[in-house]
Amino acid sequence: QEGHAETNQELYQGFTNLVSSWPCFPGFSGSQLYRHGKGWHASLAPMVGTMVADTCFTARPTDIVVATLPKSGTTWIKALLYSTVHRREYPADSCDHPFNSLGLHECIKFFEYQLYTQNKIPDLNELPDPRLFSTHVPFVSLPRSVVLASSCKIVYVCRDPKDHLISQWSFANKFRISKGLEPLSVEAATDFFCDGVTPFGPYWDHVLGYWRAHLACPEQVLFFRYEEMSLDPVAHVRKLAEFVGRPFSVEEEEDGTVDAIVKLCSFEHMAGLEATKDGKTELVTGAVENSSYFRRGVVADWKNHLSPEMAKKIDAITEAKFRGSGFPV
Ligand code: A3P
Repeated sequence: QEGHAETNQELYQGFTNLVSSWPCFPGFSGSQLYRHGKGWHASLAPMVGTMVADTCFTARPTDIVVATLPKSGTTWIKALLYSTVHRREYPADSCDHPFNSLGLHECIKFFEYQLYTQNKIPDLNELPDPRLFSTHVPFVSLPRSVVLASSCKIVYVCRDPKDHLISQWSFANKFRISKGLEPLSVEAATDFFCDGVTPFGPYWDHVLGYWRAHLACPEQVLFFRYEEMSLDPVAHVRKLAEFVGRPFSVEEEEDGTVDAIVKLCSFEHMAGLEATKDGKTELVTGAVENSSYFRRGVVADWKNHLSPEMAKKIDAITEAKFRGSGFPV
C-alpha cells in the first residue's frame, strides 16, 4: 500500500513538474492558468489530474461521461442524466431522491477536480454499471481509454459563447471577492475570453472538438445546446434516454415520468433544494458552495452586461472560427 502511495506521488509530482514548466497566464479568478501542449488552459491541479486520469483511468463500454466547458449547463445536464439513468431506483418524485441530500457534483464527479486529485488513484472498479463521470477537458485530452473504449458514451453540452462568458465572469468574481481580490471588469474578462485564456478554453476549440467527434460518431457523442434544452427540455430528456440505451416506455410516457424528470431538474426546483442552499462541493481547487452553480439560468443574459462592441467582437471570432465546420451559428 505504502509502495503504491509513493508511486502515485511520483506520478503526480512528475506531471506537476511538467505542467509547471509550461507557459502560464493570469486567469479570470486570480489563479494562474497553464497552457497545455494541445493548446488549452487550466490551473495546475486540474491539469495534473487530467494527465493522471489519462494515464490511469480504465473506461468500460458502459461508462457515460458528461463533457462541458464550465458554465455551460454542467449542473443541469448532470441532474438530467443522473435522474434519467436512475429513474427506477429513484423516481423523480420520491422523497429520498439523492438530490435532496447530495450536490449534483457529488452524484456525478469530475475526473480532474474530484477523482484524480491529491496524489490519489481512485479504485472505481466497484462502482456499478453504468458508471457516470464528468469532465471539462477538451476532446483532444480526454482520458485515452474513454476515446478508445468505443462504446463508452459522451454527453456534451455547449452554450452561447456570450452567455458562457458572462456566467464564467460572474462566478469568477464571486471567487475573487471571497479571496479579497478586486472584481474583474467585464471588459477585461472579454479580452481574456477573446484571447482564449479561460479555463479549458479557447471556447471555440472546445466546442469544435466535441462537434467534430459528434459528427464522426453520433452514437458515441451526443451534442446538446443549452439554448435548445431551455426551449424544449422534454424532447432533450427523451433523446438523452435513448442515447444512453434507456428509452422511456409507453407506460412511462403515459404516467408523466419525462415531465417529472424535467421538473425535478428545473432551475427553480434545484436552486431551492437544501443540498443546494446549504451544501458545498469539495474540489481540488477549494470548496464551492452549491448555490453558486445557480445564478439566473436564462438565455441571453449577456445583453445585460456586454456592450454592443464587445458582443460584435465575440460574434466575429465565433463566425470566423466556426466557418466551414458545419456548426450552426
Ligand atoms: P448563469 O450564470 O447564466 O445563470 P455550470 O453548471 O456548467 O457551472 O453552469 C452554470 C450555469 O447554468 C449558470 O448560468 C446556472 O444558473 C445555470 N444552471 C444551473 N442549473 C440549471 C438548471 N437546472 N437549468 C437551467 N440552467 C441552470
